[in-house]
Amino acid sequence: MKSIKTILITGGAGFIGSHVIRLFVNKYPNYRIINLDKLTYAGNLENLSDIEDLPNYTFVKGDIVDTELIQRLFSEEDIDSVIHLAAESHVDRSITDPTDFIKTNIIGTTNLLTVAKTAWHGESDHLFYHISTDEVYGSLSEGLFTESTPYDPQSPYSASKASSDHFVRAFSNTYGLPAIISNCSNNYGPNQFPEKLIPLCINNIKNRRPLPIYGKGENIRDWLYVEDHASAIDVIFHKGSTFETYNIGGLNEWKNIDVVKVLCRIMDTKLERNIKESEKLITFVRDRAGHDLRYAIDSSKITNELGWSPSVTFEVGLEQTVDWYLKNDPWLSNIVSGEYKKYYDSQYD
Ligand code: NAD
Ligand code: DAU
Repeated sequence: MKSIKTILITGGAGFIGSHVIRLFVNKYPNYRIINLDKLTYAGNLENLSDIEDLPNYTFVKGDIVDTELIQRLFSEEDIDSVIHLAAESHVDRSITDPTDFIKTNIIGTTNLLTVAKTAWHGESDHLFYHISTDEVYGSLSEGLFTESTPYDPQSPYSASKASSDHFVRAFSNTYGLPAIISNCSNNYGPNQFPEKLIPLCINNIKNRRPLPIYGKGENIRDWLYVEDHASAIDVIFHKGSTFETYNIGGLNEWKNIDVVKVLCRIMDTKLERNIKESEKLITFVRDRAGHDLRYAIDSSKITNELGWSPSVTFEVGLEQTVDWYLKNDPWLSNIVSGEYKKYYDSQYD
């Protein structure tokens, strides 16, 4: 890349996007950062209230499927790079109804690619950086996912993300669009919408509600603190090689049941409850359809080539996460008192 002036970040009001925006606007005051977000149920401008007045930050409410809006943004704002995070991100919702996953993750991504291709006229000093997931590789029995593991998506969510990855590569291959993809493992941390395992359990432990564990709780995920993902995105954006893929993970595999037990222990201490009191809330429920057994990432490429590695241990990251949710009760209450209640009842009752 020659010079970076204006970066379009999509999905910046969501969980990971808000951490990426905060890192970029604070660390790079000379960049203009435009956050394009539709503000779906998962988007929340409260996630960005501390940086919303910074002079190098602009928020635009809009849909990545809206071609006219994206064309206007590219021509009026002279966008030279894109960090694309906007997506429908929750596996359970994709099982209930994949329609929005197809619209946003596949059509929306292809729309952004098409506008970027036209606006950038085949020039190489631009970058389309697509943020993706390890779920595109399917379920692991042994070993780790590497950048050359064949795609084998199993859920409607991962099928839509795999499709978007294929479109990014197709645009690079066919039109020479300068692009990078990274595939990351499970994130956790502040601002995560409480439909996902960790914040859902934090909220339920706080309110002494059942902790729904799918199946036997033996599914394994590789957990990474969200700020470590944001720092990996920063490193890849600035130092990554165009047309490459990078896997990002925490080398931190846990069975779901063990994660929930650690959360119970941390929260019993913080809430001054009896030892193992919250564990009694654990309730085994019907398994997720097509539930992938194990994900785990080999991140040696980004470590060896770009010098990135995770900096926050799981124990510290979980404590920080619990502290954040306990301190930000209004953030959580606003969410769980609205539409979320309907979603929760239909998902779990
Ligand atoms: P999220 O659901 O918290 O946030 C998604 C954001 O995208 C929201 O702000 C939402 O309003 C916005 N959005 C949705 N549809 C849109 C549309 N059509 N137009 C514009 N904006 C739209 O998701 P997240 O967990 O922050 O994930 C961000 C990205 O990272 C996604 O692409 C996801 O696939 C990927 N990812 C997530 C994880 C994880 O563990 N959460 C891990 C690896 C990769
Ligand atoms: O691996 C990266 C992916 O991680 C991202 O691409 C997705 O956007 C993100 O949502 C996440 O997907 P998961 O399905 O792994 O995350 P979730 O928090 O929904 O579930 C984590 C594990 O916990 C999974 O094995 C299912 C299980 N689970 C989840 C919920 C919500 C339960 O046992 N009970 C629950 O109530």
